[in-house]
Amino acid sequence: MLQGEAGFKATEGGLMADIQVLVGSTYGNAGQIADDCTEQLNNLGHKAVLLSEPAYEQVIAQPDVLLICTATIGQGEIPANLMPLYCQLKDRSPDFTKVRFGLIALGDSSYESFAEGGKQMNELMYDLGAKPVGQALFIDSCETPDPDEAAAEWIDEWSTKL
Ligand SMILES: Cc1cc2nc3c(=O)[nH]c(=O)nc-3n(C[C@H](O)[C@H](O)[C@H](O)COP(=O)(O)O)c2cc1C
Repeated sequence: MLQGEAGFKATEGGLMADIQVLVGSTYGNAGQIADDCTEQLNNLGHKAVLLSEPAYEQVIAQPDVLLICTATIGQGEIPANLMPLYCQLKDRSPDFTKVRFGLIALGDSSYESFAEGGKQMNELMYDLGAKPVGQALFIDSCETPDPDEAAAEWIDEWSTKL
């Protein structure tokens, strides 16, 4: 961690960001990736916190950077642990114009609605006015033999844009 002249904190790659990592996971894959990403972001000098049961009040209290890491379940649905937050954000429409976000969406293209849970979260963030940081990462388990490695590479680049 470096200390900037104006008193701000900086990482090797840029400014330090406060990041909440929001998990949507049924069987643990997205949870594991989110956990690893949180650790990686902290090692890179950011302040990342993992929210495995993301609650509305907690998420709106600290609107700096959100990293959404979600799988898809059922027929293109958001996993049950993330669904309450999704519904509350949609119902209450908090002002997220100062929020920046990134998205890692896990899915399987053999299902009809590929990564639809991630796509819905992405759309919601845009609807609330949040600003995307970089391109979202879509991990297709049919095509990506090592999702952890794909996520780690993506985080390396994403973190420099914060
Ligand atoms: C019952 C079930 C339904 C699924 N439905 C979808 C789907 O509609 N679209 C998709 O892209 N992936 C779908 N998947 C694939 C999961 O998103 C993928 O396996 C993911 O890695 C699971 O992450 P998790 O362990 O965090 O729950 C489904 C998987 C299961 C077991």
